[in-house]
Amino acid sequence: MSPEKAKTGCLVLAVQGGATLARAAQAADRAAKGALRHALAGGDLAEKAGSTLLLRDVDGLGAERVLLVRLGERDKYDVAAFREALRGLGAALKGLGAKDVVLLVADFAVGGRGLPWTVRHAILGIRDAFYRFDQLKTQKKPAAPALAAVTLAITGAPLTLQAQAALKEAVATADGIDLARTLGNLPANLCTPSHLADEARKLAAQFKLGIEVLERRDMEKLGMGALLSVTRGSRQPPKLIVLRYNGASKKKKPLVLVGKGITFDTGGISLKPGGDMDEMKFDMSGAGSVLGAIRALASMRAPVNVVGVVPTCENMPGGEATRPGDVVTTLSGQTVEILNTDAEGRLILCDALTYAARFDPEAVVDIATLTGACVIALGHVATGLFANDQKLADDILAAGDDAWDRVWQMPLWEDYQEQLRSNFADMANIGGRPAGSVTAACYLARFTRKLRWAHLDIAGTAWRSGRDKGSTGRPVPLLVRLALRQAGRRA
Ligand code: BES
Ligand code: MN
Ligand code: ZN
Repeated sequence: MSPEKAKTGCLVLAVQGGATLARAAQAADRAAKGALRHALAGGDLAEKAGSTLLLRDVDGLGAERVLLVRLGERDKYDVAAFREALRGLGAALKGLGAKDVVLLVADFAVGGRGLPWTVRHAILGIRDAFYRFDQLKTQKKPAAPALAAVTLAITGAPLTLQAQAALKEAVATADGIDLARTLGNLPANLCTPSHLADEARKLAAQFKLGIEVLERRDMEKLGMGALLSVTRGSRQPPKLIVLRYNGASKKKKPLVLVGKGITFDTGGISLKPGGDMDEMKFDMSGAGSVLGAIRALASMRAPVNVVGVVPTCENMPGGEATRPGDVVTTLSGQTVEILNTDAEGRLILCDALTYAARFDPEAVVDIATLTGACVIALGHVATGLFANDQKLADDILAAGDDAWDRVWQMPLWEDYQEQLRSNFADMANIGGRPAGSVTAACYLARFTRKLRWAHLDIAGTAWRSGRDKGSTGRPVPLLVRLALRQAGRRA
């Protein structure tokens, strides 16, 4: 399709530094007899990446509106500037009355990343801008966005199978991200362990997945003493959700994703301080990301085998709650002295990780809002990565870069293990102040010695605080890319 002819509510064009239009945008400018460059010469489009300028009824073009989006200086254009441009574009589109837009996507391409990559990220960027969580508000403002359809126009390059696959992957990934975000944003009175199990059952029915939900008595029979110790103070029944998607040959060993599903973390008897405690509803974000990633992979019919294992319960104080000093026996047989009931994530994860071994996994990746220390170490940019297998770690690092859902590897050295020493049991569940996220990972490592395993600490990346408080849906993009890369997909 030639952009100048596009009959659309809005034609989106990329602008580099100054008044330099990107390639396809130049063709539109020619059709408009230089009107676009003329508008730019007026100086109304700021130089900053992501700035936008809206023009209406440009003569010579079929579109009702033209939205010019600044990419920033050509030699500084990178993934970060691309993301800024998309953010600006998304914000501008939200405010428009247009019902449909045509985006000349190749003009947004970043050096070193192919067209399929650009397609994926463009879709994810726009879907991110249009995500809303207003189901608990009686007044929805604005009532509904006008925009109903986005067309990605590719000129000059043939529409390859890769670009089509990228489109499918991006839409499925966006749906998975939305699911993870919505589960994270739902408050703990609604998003209970039972609610997560129901959501998993819905996914199973919709996408023909295998599902099994273990109840408290099943956990008791198996001997999941650590998981059971966390749920003791709560009225909500715990669940262990197992969700399976088989998109590849039965012979292929699965990737097992284990997600921390604490639907609310008060700290238990080691009660947390009150400030910002509401944010502990996000403590099931690891679980949400596992459900979101499986939804994405299943809906795009990815050629992968994945098992999601989600231990979920509440961490509450109460007359029956676990006390500091209590000793419990884990599913692995190892005993743990619970010195702090607020270090509960590792307690539910250790039993889930032991359980994961029964699926004879190719690799196991757990995802958890595990430590405040990880937020101190890496802030809100990178997810913490720990792994007992460097090949797996490298795969995760590469998938994170590709998805721009980045991770940073931290050490898992034996030297840290002595911090978990206990006088009364095989180990303690905390390792003291130094290197809090490392000792948490070292604790988990004691339950995964026979597995290829990695741990993602998403405490800093799963949600945003402050005015824009809310779930991010990370690391769904990373997990989807990881699974696809393991199945050989690179583009
Ligand atoms: N869910 C928290 C971790 C957390 C804290 C995530 C703040 C995001 C923001 C976890 O269960 C926890 O409480 N961890 C403790 C561990 C400590 C007691 C060893 C922590 O980080 O303080
Ligand atoms: Mn805690
Ligand atoms: Zn927690």
